Amino acid sequence: MILLAGFLDVIFDAVTLAGLAGAAGGIAFAFAVLLPLRGPLPSSALRDAAAGVALGAATVAGFQGARLLLAPWSLADEQGAWPLGPFLETGFAHAGLLHAGLAVAVAGAALRLRRRPGSRRGWTALALVAAALVASRAWLVHAVSRPDDRALLMTITDLHQLAAAVWVGGLAHLLALRLRGRRDPARASAWPAVLARFSRLAFAAVALVVATGLALAWRYVGGVAALVGTAYGAMVLTKVALLGMALVLAAQNRRAVQRWRRAGDRAAADLRIPFLVEAEAGAAIALLLAAAALTAQPPAVDVTDQRATLAEVAGVLAPKVPRLVPPPHGPMVAASPSSVDPYAQPGPLDRWQSDFNHNVAGIVVLLAAVAAFADRWSRLRVARHWPLLFLLLAAFLLLLAEPNGWPFGPEGFFEVLTSPSVLQHRAATLLVVALAVLEWRVRAGRLAGTRWRFAFPVLCGVGGALLLTHSHSVLASRWAYLVEVSHNAIGVLAVAAALGAWLELRLPPREGRIPAAVWTASMGLVGLVLLFYRE
Ligand code: HEM
Repeated sequence: MILLAGFLDVIFDAVTLAGLAGAAGGIAFAFAVLLPLRGPLPSSALRDAAAGVALGAATVAGFQGARLLLAPWSLADEQGAWPLGPFLETGFAHAGLLHAGLAVAVAGAALRLRRRPGSRRGWTALALVAAALVASRAWLVHAVSRPDDRALLMTITDLHQLAAAVWVGGLAHLLALRLRGRRDPARASAWPAVLARFSRLAFAAVALVVATGLALAWRYVGGVAALVGTAYGAMVLTKVALLGMALVLAAQNRRAVQRWRRAGDRAAADLRIPFLVEAEAGAAIALLLAAAALTAQPPAVDVTDQRATLAEVAGVLAPKVPRLVPPPHGPMVAASPSSVDPYAQPGPLDRWQSDFNHNVAGIVVLLAAVAAFADRWSRLRVARHWPLLFLLLAAFLLLLAEPNGWPFGPEGFFEVLTSPSVLQHRAATLLVVALAVLEWRVRAGRLAGTRWRFAFPVLCGVGGALLLTHSHSVLASRWAYLVEVSHNAIGVLAVAAALGAWLELRLPPREGRIPAAVWTASMGLVGLVLLFYRE
């Protein structure tokens, strides 16, 4: 259970962070955008924001509560008895209960504020309770267990999380305002002014996120060898890459706002920016997942004997002859450790099988990327059937991704689903089937022009998110890290493909070329990472 509990804890932590963003970001959005624009904007905008804050805080309470249950559940003894007494004496339990309790208080105060949404005093009182909620999170991060500079690191981590919440939560509230504005002319007409105010808030929040993030990275990573040689360092780099994607999109928002300010030209603000903000929010959600996965790893400074060298990391991604012949099945299964053994280290035959699986999957993904490219930029009509190649990949994953398990291995289908990597492989298979069938019906069938056309970018995004929380072992071992290097790279590329495909669908057709190039190229790169994968 310990592996599954670890995987679920990262997911629950990420949802808790998203809830915190909805709450703290919503309050900042009210002060920086909505209250100053009370004239042009109807009071219903403030009421909606208060509802969003309540929803965010309730999410924190719920998922923080779920995290508190995970720990004693994963430590249950053979009889299934949970060590609740000893657990409730731990600092983590106290801090978690306080955090969940304060979240309930914020949710209650926000619901009450919905009755008088225009009250600045009401929002100030809510902000004070929310400040306590954000502060209480400082007892749930690495800093609380550091021997040196504990208070300083707790403060920096808390400022980092607050700035992240203001930016990500602000994006969510901005999109909600836009969504509700489609039927409300007052909101629609105030949109450029809303964007201009939010742009200032977001700029300050991102500046603070980066400054505090670099300070944390300095203390918890400390050097290039640790940055490229540990899972913690690699997750920091993953966050920087995702932040880079978000900032490319955010820069366009700023330009549109400046054009409106200078010449009153609101065309870009109305026709382009809402969709860029959607994509920016997508990148921000992936960032929160990466942040939760980051803090589930031991800080890089503490991982000294299991670091990979730069050459080893480069070797993982470097071109090499793919392994397209599987190992002998019998001896491989006989030598293979159980899928649910959290401390298992794979043998040479296991690694050979895993290389074969990833390399063959790489060929299929690469072919699909080339065909998708041809479908977009050539007159080759047959190329529009490229999603069907993913059905081939799904069949391959179902039959061979778990060689120890059903259908050809000795382990039962359900018996090993408590292993996160088995669970994620099976989920990935379902995801690939859904992606193949839906996208094919959009490109070659009757679903073109329907909402189903958004399934492809969303499924890519979910796949990328799954990979960013992927962990192969509870041990901070060099082997496990080198495996994660490829999975992180594929996770980031899948997020880039999701954003590109989303923007190609949402932006005016003449602006779809660059997004289309981004997603087809990202898919091709995923194929190459898989093709050259080696454990
Ligand atoms: C230059 C970019 C960034 C760097 C170097 C960076 C670095 C870090 C580090 C080292 C930590 C871990 C602290 C610990 O171990 O306790 C951390 C935590 C965190 N980061 Fe960042 N970060 C960056 C950008 C971002 C962005 C853009 C976001 C948000 C969208 C973000 C959200 C978070 C959150 C929410 C946490 C706390 C996670 C938790 O407690 O579970 N970071 N960051």
